[in-house]
Amino acid sequence: MNEQPKTAEAEQVDPTRLPRHIAIIMDGNGRWAARRGLPRSMGHKAGAETFRRIATYCKDLGIRYLTVYAFSTENWKRSADEVSAIMGLLRKYLLEAVDTMERDHIRLHFFGDMTPIAPELRALARETDEITAHLDRSCFQANVCLNYGGRDEILRAVRRFAQDCAQGARIPGELDEALFSSYLDSAGIPDPDLIIRPSGEERISNFLLWQCAYSEFFRTDTLWPDFDERELDRAILAYQKRDRRYGGVKA
Ligand code: FPP
Repeated sequence: MNEQPKTAEAEQVDPTRLPRHIAIIMDGNGRWAARRGLPRSMGHKAGAETFRRIATYCKDLGIRYLTVYAFSTENWKRSADEVSAIMGLLRKYLLEAVDTMERDHIRLHFFGDMTPIAPELRALARETDEITAHLDRSCFQANVCLNYGGRDEILRAVRRFAQDCAQGARIPGELDEALFSSYLDSAGIPDPDLIIRPSGEERISNFLLWQCAYSEFFRTDTLWPDFDERELDRAILAYQKRDRRYGGVKA
């Protein structure tokens, strides 16, 4: 468990009504670096550290799934230096994960199209997948979105379903929401209860487009590298005050 003294926010969190799945758009790394006169890559380095802290905190709190947006299908438009800095951080994180996830009981999974990802990084992702397969499904699971776009994920799912139909394994009429969800990168994982976007932006930016249908949204002006445990407590508190009706009316 977290050994830090509990903050006032943490004291108010109801541990019996935690979100099962939290998703985060890790935004604001570039601005964080610019404000300090640092290269953007330093913002991503600080952002990767924040991810590590927040993942540990989520695990300690008893959150089951944390999904983070690390690299979108559109992020290839950034400079080669910046793309390579982000890939380097992911490589470093995966190398550490291979050594520690079994000990720490952390499952790791990737959302996104891994085809254009460098072979070394893909091999590491396969390795973490294999370790994940041995870990109990009840363990905390981090999902990292890499070369991920919500529209791309939906298109890939549609293509696979159409292929199954063409091969006679499926018929179009049997497609319902549950079956469609099983073709997505998030197959078997509950939809996010809470989506957090730091850095003051209020867009969904092609993140979990299918899965966000009934997610609660929390925004904060804090830039991702400055996001901390207290801010996560605030987000959870805000979530616990929401009245989730899923299109129905209050009983
Ligand atoms: C968005 O901020 C952030 C990214 C596109 C990259 C996020 C990647 C990491 C934190 C590093 C690797 C991740 C893991 C899981 C180890 P931005 O650059 O768009 O910020 P800005 O809007 O201020 O420019």
